[in-house]
Amino acid sequence: MTDTLETFIRGLPKAELHLHIEGSLEPEQMFEFGKRNRVDMPFQSVEEVRAAYAFSNLQDFLDIYYQGAGVLQTEQDFNDMAMAYFRRLHADGGVHAELFFDPQTHTDRGLPFSIAVEGLLSGMKAAEAEMGITSGLIMCFLRHLDEEAALATLKAAEPWLDRVVGVGLDSSEVGHPPSKFQKVFRAAKERGLRLCAHAGEEGPPEYVWEALDLLKVDRIDHGNRALEDEALVKRLVASEMTLTVCPLSNLKLCVVDDLKDHPMKRMLDLGLKATCNADDPAYFGGYIGENFIQTARALDLSREELVTLARNSFTGSFLDEERVARRLAEIDAYVD
Ligand code: ADE
Ligand code: ZN
Repeated sequence: MTDTLETFIRGLPKAELHLHIEGSLEPEQMFEFGKRNRVDMPFQSVEEVRAAYAFSNLQDFLDIYYQGAGVLQTEQDFNDMAMAYFRRLHADGGVHAELFFDPQTHTDRGLPFSIAVEGLLSGMKAAEAEMGITSGLIMCFLRHLDEEAALATLKAAEPWLDRVVGVGLDSSEVGHPPSKFQKVFRAAKERGLRLCAHAGEEGPPEYVWEALDLLKVDRIDHGNRALEDEALVKRLVASEMTLTVCPLSNLKLCVVDDLKDHPMKRMLDLGLKATCNADDPAYFGGYIGENFIQTARALDLSREELVTLARNSFTGSFLDEERVARRLAEIDAYVD
């Protein structure tokens, strides 16, 4: 059963819609970049880095995650990091990804805006040529900073906006509600960008309402705590709002105590349009395939439910209708 389940999942065509590319930086690569860029590392060994990855909440993780990103200095680093991620995605049956990146994490430590974005775009292009993986770039605003900084980031991104598919909102959730970012989300929408926001990971259902009503997002990232509010669930189901759910992240950041308690199955039973994603795989112990496999085992998900998750990943993506239809046909062919 387990082997066939794994084989079935890895062969199932899927898209990843919630992946912070900086969160795919494995400790080995962190040391490699640290060395070649002569950046002092707060850790002596890969083992020491991994040992530090024991988190009790989101902030615990973010403190280490922003530190880790400090080794990224050149376009080549961003390109290499993206390629390493795409190779893992390919091995897991991933055919499309919409990557989050945090420009402010890099510009605030003195890197020109172009370094991250150009490096990532070149990796994305190479992944399509080498592996046939399509991808889009989503620029996230750090919500622990103010809206002026987010507006300045959108302005700095102007020359690249034709190559960015959307904007997102991430970092420390509690105390930084979506309402703080209405102007910048409106400005992004006016520029033709798609919108998503982390909401309901640690923050209350009100933050999910705000993301919907004030930011007018196309997707909710996480959304776990929406389940506490019946009217909100109804709204999300009726509007077919995609939730980019991240089971292993939820486990590592103590959003759930046990994968057996994860709400993924409940979400599907309620008719919510959930997808399964890795969030920050280098930190949370697994890429998209592992997220599917461990969640399927813990919750005894059926093949139909796994196929629903894969279908949702395409219908919830920012791909055009024709490409979505093509990917759905690939799923149908696989299942047949
Ligand atoms: N940045 C990277 N991963 C994140 C997460 N899970 N929540 C908020 N911000 C993040
Ligand atoms: Zn995230």
